[in-house]
Amino acid sequence: MDTTVAFFDSFAAEYDSWADGLHQRVANRLVELVRPLPGERVLDVGCGTGLLSNRIAELVGPSGLVTGLDLSMGMLEVAHAAAPANAAYQLIQLEDRLPFPDASFDLVTFGDSLPYLSEPFAMLEQARRVLRPGGRIGLSLRQRSMATAAQRAFYRVLDEELTEAHPLVVPRFHSEDHGKLGEPDVIRELLEYAGFRAPVTTQLLTGVRMTSGLDWIELLQGVGPWPHALLSTLGPDLRRQLAAVVEREMETLDDDAYRYHEAFVFVTATAEDW
Ligand SMILES: C[S@@+](CC[C@H](N)C(=O)[O-])C[C@H]1O[C@@H](n2cnc3c(N)ncnc32)[C@H](O)[C@@H]1O
Repeated sequence: MDTTVAFFDSFAAEYDSWADGLHQRVANRLVELVRPLPGERVLDVGCGTGLLSNRIAELVGPSGLVTGLDLSMGMLEVAHAAAPANAAYQLIQLEDRLPFPDASFDLVTFGDSLPYLSEPFAMLEQARRVLRPGGRIGLSLRQRSMATAAQRAFYRVLDEELTEAHPLVVPRFHSEDHGKLGEPDVIRELLEYAGFRAPVTTQLLTGVRMTSGLDWIELLQGVGPWPHALLSTLGPDLRRQLAAVVEREMETLDDDAYRYHEAFVFVTATAEDW
């Protein structure tokens, strides 16, 4: 968990503009899909810099209320700086409970946050509990199986050049299972088990293309806690050496070189009656 906090704290100022504003595009799409209505009470789990919460707060208006939860003070400071009066933020490390009474929200959102949580299924059940019957849930998740050849090659290089040779063991932030949460069949089934009906998934493919090994390393440092922990510790010499290895790998990929994709899956569903 410390790696996650350290990553989001240090990355907070860049988060909204990273990869040409990818997080903003994804948050905007999720807001469109969950269609917040005036007067609604909304919970945003893992709210980060408030890209979702602050926009939703505008849409629910002064008679509505948005509560954003996050464990990174750095992210919450950015959220708070742009918050309308009806958006409230709480610093909290979530485990397997949401600290709210039953049926206290009309809408719960998880914007690219579910796989980071230690107990994702428990959190879906909790979302069901704190939603009123007929309330909605909306999630965005990365579909990791859609990574490009360049991304896969880079993670192989990281393993070979850094993890195996690194004196520090940097824990990966989640298990293989958490990585599968973004597969449409998996998340639909989990939502049904957790007490939601009619889950609907849509996708958004977004990405950028870099032109050099150093730019590629700079971009990938923002992908998540594990690459950030490894890459941010490199001095200029090691960084140049790694960039040279990356450039050799990319030369073998022709048109696929330096292609970075994020495929996002969006899911919306309705809380069943008790
Ligand atoms: C990729 S960011 C997504 C931020 C925002 N929801 C968005 O759509 O841009 C994931 C967020 O989840 C938060 N997070 C991760 N683990 C958490 C936990 N156990 N409890 C609370 N927040 C957590 C991180 O601090 C981070 O801000």
